[in-house]
Amino acid sequence: MNVSINTKFMTVINWKQIEQQSMARCILDTIWQDTEDFTGWTHYAENMPDELLKDVEDTAKKIQGMCDTLVVIGIGGSYLGSAAILEALGGHKAGYPELVFAGTNLSGNAQSKILADLKDKEFCLCVVSKSGITMESMIAFSVYKEALQKKYGDKYAERIVAVTDPEKGLLREEANRGGYKTFEIPSNVGGRYSAYTPGIIFPLAVAGVDVRTFVEGAKSMADEKFWHGEGLDYALARYAMLESGKVLEVYEYFDPCLRLFGEWMKQLFAESEGKEGKGLFPVTLTLSTDLHSIGQYLQEGKPMFFESFIDVKEWKNDVKVPESIGNALGGMSMNEINAAAVEGVIAAHHKAGTPILRLTLDRLDEYTLGQLTYYCMMTAAITGKLMGVDPFNQPGVEQYKKEIKARLGL
Ligand code: PA5
Repeated sequence: MNVSINTKFMTVINWKQIEQQSMARCILDTIWQDTEDFTGWTHYAENMPDELLKDVEDTAKKIQGMCDTLVVIGIGGSYLGSAAILEALGGHKAGYPELVFAGTNLSGNAQSKILADLKDKEFCLCVVSKSGITMESMIAFSVYKEALQKKYGDKYAERIVAVTDPEKGLLREEANRGGYKTFEIPSNVGGRYSAYTPGIIFPLAVAGVDVRTFVEGAKSMADEKFWHGEGLDYALARYAMLESGKVLEVYEYFDPCLRLFGEWMKQLFAESEGKEGKGLFPVTLTLSTDLHSIGQYLQEGKPMFFESFIDVKEWKNDVKVPESIGNALGGMSMNEINAAAVEGVIAAHHKAGTPILRLTLDRLDEYTLGQLTYYCMMTAAITGKLMGVDPFNQPGVEQYKKEIKARLGL
């Protein structure tokens, strides 16, 4: 496995590992069988038919030939995966369409900027919504579809790819009526567990990401033996942290290219666990940037948190510090300095008594990111169930939606 977890710093708490381990194994067995609602993601990558991957790749090629910009409309689990993976892999790839993520908010101010930027672009739309009724996504879709119609007239529909439930929802109805190219998010896969479905891999394929290798990474993690052993460590450790009274899990990474991956993790864990008065509240920090804002609190503030570091061993690119700096740093690689910062920060926070977990990736590429996403999804599902909540629903979000709708007369 290219993903490993290092728990050697977890010396502060009483880790009820043995007791919880058998419970976690039973939970795992239930999820693994794929018979429960919304557990379709567990074997999705393994069972993905080659024709589907080929269709994703062929459609991506067609779209690449038509545009320089793909507007991806979706929110939450319907966009974070593609935005996060693309950013972690270095962002926009020369020679491929740029992905612009729209529909991630209700701000007219933000959308008008995107619309203005699209004026001189050749663009296509990929709308992703499992339910096909999400307010942000449906508003954005109507806005960008209108822009598409104005620019391309009758031929607009061939520039739309819709990814949604196989049968239900307004988007599915409209896609069938309008004859759009569609892909499916299976009914038994929820938004935040949809990382390997076309909702995430199709936009990535358009952007030139090797989605086959990403799916291969996920496949390699669907390894029952691993999950019955060390695979459970992160889930057990997180649960033990909650039991010991910790309230926050602080994710920390030392490269800004992981910022959106942190957002993806935040959404996965918060929406899976935060219910019935339970759950760890996820916080994300990019270091060393945030050491200059939150660093003081991490060292000496109220000890209500533990830290989970996402650490990468090997980086593709590097910069050498010039000798002109005039001290021992001259001639060193910045990645070497960053690696010393990782160790230094962990040691300092450990000395302050903070429990620390460390997720180590060999490198950042399609394969390891495929592994890490699966690892996080399984962990969220197991910890959620250990906490006694349903990790696959989100009943709490209905309340604010009702309040918004009431104010809009809907
Ligand atoms: O994880 C989830 O289920 C949510 O975050 C959804 O992905 C998000 O609300 C968007 O939903 P939909 O894809 O139905 O538009």
